Amino acid sequence: MTVHDADDGRLVLLVSGPNLNLLGEREPAVYGPKTLGEHVDAAAAAAKRHGLELRHVQSNHEGDLIDAIHAASGEAAAVIINAGALTHTSWSISDALGAFDGVVVEVHLSNPAAREPFRHTSVLARVADGSIAGFGGLGYELAVEAVARLLDPSGTASSQ
Ligand code: DQA
Repeated sequence: MTVHDADDGRLVLLVSGPNLNLLGEREPAVYGPKTLGEHVDAAAAAAKRHGLELRHVQSNHEGDLIDAIHAASGEAAAVIINAGALTHTSWSISDALGAFDGVVVEVHLSNPAAREPFRHTSVLARVADGSIAGFGGLGYELAVEAVARLLDPSGTASSQ
């Protein structure tokens, strides 16, 4: 499991699931040329612009992801999650997100609805405030933007 911390402020936990550590080399025609670290840096910069702190966790192990979501309760104001293929299967992650007491935004680089049938169902969508998919790496910045708006609808905490 790798963890990336950014600046001080209200905490947003970005959770990356299986195989996303391979971004940059994994199916670039589908997922783009950028590495996960580059997406995290863009998300952290977007968070900083909104007075938020981004923490990132990536794991290829379902239980690690669940533990990270549990630990976020009472600590983070929001979870942004790209659970990879666990999006389509993990009722355990779905339940963990359901128990999280903050904003939840689901993000995907590709547009799963336009791909193979097994990707058409997200078992996480039922517990997410919303989902962003199909915009490549821009989705991470859009997810932070959504979190910032949901946490502070008047925009008074933003430094923009
Ligand atoms: C993904 C879509 C999933 O179907 C896939 O298993 C991934 C990446 C995306 O970001 O587009 O690993 O979550």
